[in-house]
Amino acid sequence: MFSCIMNKGNVFKCLLNGKWIESNTGKRDKIFSPVDGTIVGEVQCISQQEAEEFIVTAKDAQKDWNNVAVNKRADVVHKAADILDREKETIAEVMVKEIAKNRKSSLSEIARTVDFMHFTAEEGKRVVGESLSSDSFPGFGKGKVSIVHRVPLGVILSIAPFNYPINLAASKVAPALMAGNSVVLKPPTQGAISSLYLGRVFCEAGVPPGVLNVITGQGREIGDYLVSHPHINMIAFTGSSKVGRHIAQIAGMKPMLLELGGKDAAIVLADADLDITASNIVSGAFSYSGQRCTAVKRVLVIESVADELIKRIIKLVNSLTVGNPQDDADITPLISDSAAEFVKELIDDAAEKGARLLAGNKIEGNLIYPTVFDNVTKDMRLAWEEPFGPVLPIMRVKNSEEAIEIANRSEYGLQSSVFTSDIDNAFKIASKLEVGTVQVNGKTERGPDHFPFIGVKSSGMGTQGIRYSIEAMSRSKAIVLNLK
Ligand code: NAP
Ligand code: G3P
Repeated sequence: MFSCIMNKGNVFKCLLNGKWIESNTGKRDKIFSPVDGTIVGEVQCISQQEAEEFIVTAKDAQKDWNNVAVNKRADVVHKAADILDREKETIAEVMVKEIAKNRKSSLSEIARTVDFMHFTAEEGKRVVGESLSSDSFPGFGKGKVSIVHRVPLGVILSIAPFNYPINLAASKVAPALMAGNSVVLKPPTQGAISSLYLGRVFCEAGVPPGVLNVITGQGREIGDYLVSHPHINMIAFTGSSKVGRHIAQIAGMKPMLLELGGKDAAIVLADADLDITASNIVSGAFSYSGQRCTAVKRVLVIESVADELIKRIIKLVNSLTVGNPQDDADITPLISDSAAEFVKELIDDAAEKGARLLAGNKIEGNLIYPTVFDNVTKDMRLAWEEPFGPVLPIMRVKNSEEAIEIANRSEYGLQSSVFTSDIDNAFKIASKLEVGTVQVNGKTERGPDHFPFIGVKSSGMGTQGIRYSIEAMSRSKAIVLNLK
C-alpha cells in the first residue's frame, strides 16, 4: 500500500498528477521525532519552479473531475474513508513518531476523519441551489425565473497544521473534492509524512491524476508562491494567526478560510457544577499537551468558588500521565524545542510577576509537565498569549461582567465556555462574548465536525464544518430564464 510513496531509507515522495515523484533539486527535509530525536523519514523540498506543475496539473484536471457525477465523486470519498480505516494502525504509528500524539488520540483522529469523510460524501450530494420567480419582487410579473446552483471554485490550496495532519488535511480535501474542485495539499513539514499517507489513501480510492496533488516543502519557502499563484482559486488554511495574516495580505482577491490561533476562556460562575467544570477544563486544557487551537487557555472564575474549583482541577492534573506517546501518556513532548522554549518563556514571566504555581513547571527538553498557575493577572503574558502547550492560567474575577471584559479583551475570538446552572444567564453572557462559538457547560472544542466552526478577530475568517466548508469551496451561479 505505501511502498510507492517512499523509496529505500524512508525518503518520501510527493504526489504529482497521479505519480509519486522526487524533487529534481535533490533537496530534502529530514523529519526527526519530537519523542526521541530519531529520524522518521525524509520529505521532498519542492522548489518554487517545481511547485508550478503541482498547480497547473491540478487546474487541468479540475474540469473533468467536476463533470463526474456527484454520486460518483461521493463513491470515491467513501472509498477513501474505508481505506483510511483499513490503514489506521499504520498511520497512527507514524503520527505517534512524527507529531508525538499518543496512540489513542492518533487512532481517534483517524476514526474521526473516517466519519468526517463519509459524512462529507453524503452531504456533498445534498448541497443544492434554488429557483426564484420574478413576480415575488415589486414591479415584476412572472416573466423571469432564476435557477441558482452551485459550481466549484477551481483549485483549492489546502494548508494543514502539525497538530491534526490527517483530520485538518482531510477536512479541506474531502469537501473540496465533493464540491468538484481539485486540490493542492501543502502539509505541515512536521506532519508531512502522515499527510502523505493520506494522499496515498485518496490515490488508491480513485481520485484521478492531478485532482489531488500533495506538495511538501517549507511553508516559508514556497508558501508565498503557492498562495499568490493566479491558478489558485481559494485557500483553506489552518495554522498560526501570524501566518494567516500574512497569507491574507499577499494572496490577492480570492476567497479563503482561515482557521487560526485561540485563547479560549472558560468562564466559571458561582453556581457551576464544579466537578463537571473541573473535568472539562482539565481535558480541554491538556489533551494533546494543549496543542489545540480550541484548548482551554485561561480560566476566569468567580472568586467565591475559585478555591473549590482549583482543588478539583489540581486533583485531576496530578492524575495525568506524562511521557511517551507510544504508551498513551496524556502529556507528551511538544512538537519542537522552540515550541517548548516559548511555553517556558510564558511560564517564567508569570512566575516572575507573582503568579502562584500550583502544579508543574518541570521541563525535560521539549516535555513540559502539566502546569497550573493561580492568581494570574493582566500584566502577565500568560493572560494573553497562546502557549500551545500544557499550561493553564487561572484568573479570579469579581463577577461575570469582569469575566466578559477580560475574555473580550483578547486579540483572539475562537471559542469560550460558560459554566453555570442558570441557562438563561449562560445565554446572556454568550451573547456578549466576541467569539465564534460559546460552549455552555462543556469544554471548548471543534467537534462534532458538522457543526459550524468559526474564528473571529485573530482566530480566523470564514466558517468551516462539513456543509459550510463545501459551500465555502463553491459559489452560486444563476441562469435566468426569460419566459415569453
Ligand atoms: P504554522 O506555523 O502557522 O503552520 C501552519 C501551516 O502553514 C504549515 O503547513 C506551515 O508549513 C504552513 N506555512 C508556514 N508559513 C507559511 C507561509 N508563509 N505561507 C503558506 N503556508 C505557510 O502553525 P502550526 O505550528 O502548524 O500550528 C500552530 C499554530 O496554528 C497555533 O497558533 C495554533 O493555534 C494554530 N492552529 C489553529 C487551528 C484552528 O483550528 N484554528 C488548528 C491548528 C493549529 P511548514 O510546516 O512547512 O512551516
Ligand atoms: O487545533 C485543532 C482545532 O481544529 C481544534 O480541534 O477537535 O481538538 O477542538 P478539536
